[in-house]
Amino acid sequence: MGEEGFSSDSSLLYHVHPPTAIVKSEGLADVAAETRMAPNQPLLPRHYRTQDLPRGGDLVFGRRALMGNDDVTISFVTADAASDLYRNSTGDEVVYVQAGVLRFESVYGAINAIAGDYVVVPRGTIHRWIPSAEPVTALIIQARGHIRTPKRYLSQTGQFLEHAPYCERDLRGVEGPLLAEGEDVPVMVRNRAGLTRLTYAYHPFDVVGWDGCLYPYAFNIADFEPIVKRTHAPPPVHQTFEGPNFVVCSFCPRPLDFDPESVPIPYNHHNVDSDEMMFYVGGDYSARQGSGVGIGSITLHPSGFTHGPIPGAVEAVIRGMESGRTTTDETAVMIDTFRPLLLADSAAVGEDPEYAWTWARAARS
Ligand SMILES: [Fe+2]
Repeated sequence: MGEEGFSSDSSLLYHVHPPTAIVKSEGLADVAAETRMAPNQPLLPRHYRTQDLPRGGDLVFGRRALMGNDDVTISFVTADAASDLYRNSTGDEVVYVQAGVLRFESVYGAINAIAGDYVVVPRGTIHRWIPSAEPVTALIIQARGHIRTPKRYLSQTGQFLEHAPYCERDLRGVEGPLLAEGEDVPVMVRNRAGLTRLTYAYHPFDVVGWDGCLYPYAFNIADFEPIVKRTHAPPPVHQTFEGPNFVVCSFCPRPLDFDPESVPIPYNHHNVDSDEMMFYVGGDYSARQGSGVGIGSITLHPSGFTHGPIPGAVEAVIRGMESGRTTTDETAVMIDTFRPLLLADSAAVGEDPEYAWTWARAARS
């Protein structure tokens, strides 16, 4: 398997059977393609409660699209069933596990994933997801291309630089080999034409070994080393991955900005070229108090809207510092996209329609 026309990362996989042997191909209606997406018009900041979204299903076909564009689709799932074998040939995926334990099985081997893991699945990897006894909640980032480590973290030859907030030691590879017996095994394949069920003559999990630099891996958000400044540092210090026209950032527990005069929460800002999606996964959100945003919330602050802390939050955080607070325990996953994010109809059931007015209400109260 190799990327970018034999000009980028690749791996050699040693199969017992020909990986070419298919016996049946059936075109299927693609639920994902039927999700309607509409522009964020009239322009509004948005707040979705993932707890209010329908639960159940498997991690592949039970996921509900929340928002997306031509570069990326962002979905959420509460998975309580094992998925079919699946190959996404439209791009890389990152699955961020919010809660629960699940096993990722693939042609390369398996990863036991826990809360806080980002599991990176290269395009074209045949895999399946098996939740443990408890349901698993996860955010899924589907790119129309590759999701990679930011270039500025790497040396010319691809080693993580010492200033990077994570490095090779933090990445967990697959355990394997993972072998399964079987004949006439269906695999759900999504490519740029749609969804197909391909039946393979032999079980695709027949790889006795592999070598190369293209493979699935996991990285836990708790292993991200936060970078802190004397005064407020903007989101690029939190960057974790880059994809085509988007970035993924991890906000992790860290010391507060340490200048005695600092105001250690974001300033009002307008990131004019980006739509900003934030998924709140842990800790206490000082900047959002009074907005209804809590653990499990997803906010979208689009280009065209200046956003920032709820009025009163600055004073509250300064009072906290004066009484000895020196750290923040917030944990969040942020996705900034350069192209506008369209809103999926499947997200509407979780939307808080009052969110847009929370800054004005706090200012007037
Ligand atoms: Fe922002």
